[in-house]
Amino acid sequence: MMVSNNFSWQRLIQQAEGLLSVTSNRISNAANLSALLYQELADVSWVGFYFLDGETLMVGPFQGKPACVSIKLGEGVCGTAAVTGETIRVADVETFDGHIVCDAEARSEVVVPLFKKEQLLGVLDVDSTRLDRFGPDDEAGLTALARVYLSSVV
Ligand code: SME
Repeated sequence: MMVSNNFSWQRLIQQAEGLLSVTSNRISNAANLSALLYQELADVSWVGFYFLDGETLMVGPFQGKPACVSIKLGEGVCGTAAVTGETIRVADVETFDGHIVCDAEARSEVVVPLFKKEQLLGVLDVDSTRLDRFGPDDEAGLTALARVYLSSVV
């Protein structure tokens, strides 16, 4: 994993727990978690949230370049993770059928679906311009952070 030597998922998770304990507001905590991840994760070009609005995922707080505003359920990596309820880790976005290009330079991606009391809230999406940037440890770390986020919000 190409991250700085003292990077630790455990420490990042603890930082997130502190940061998100101040409020249970979904938008505020999504904004601060996006900022924390964008700052702490190496080689990440975009990190943010899409929230469910009817049958569509609408972009929420994020860090990085301006992004696609809406994604239909079932479309792209985000819409697929949302309907399957499974985290999707894509080593090479060109091999994912239906991948939605928001940034032509993005090469790999992880999307974690967010369910609160069995209701789909949205997804957490992390992108990199580096091919195969995310490994199983990143998937596990992001899944743990998604749980921290979900338990912090109402
Ligand atoms: N690539 C995503 C779209 C969201 S952006 O990457 C920010 C997808 O295929 O769902």
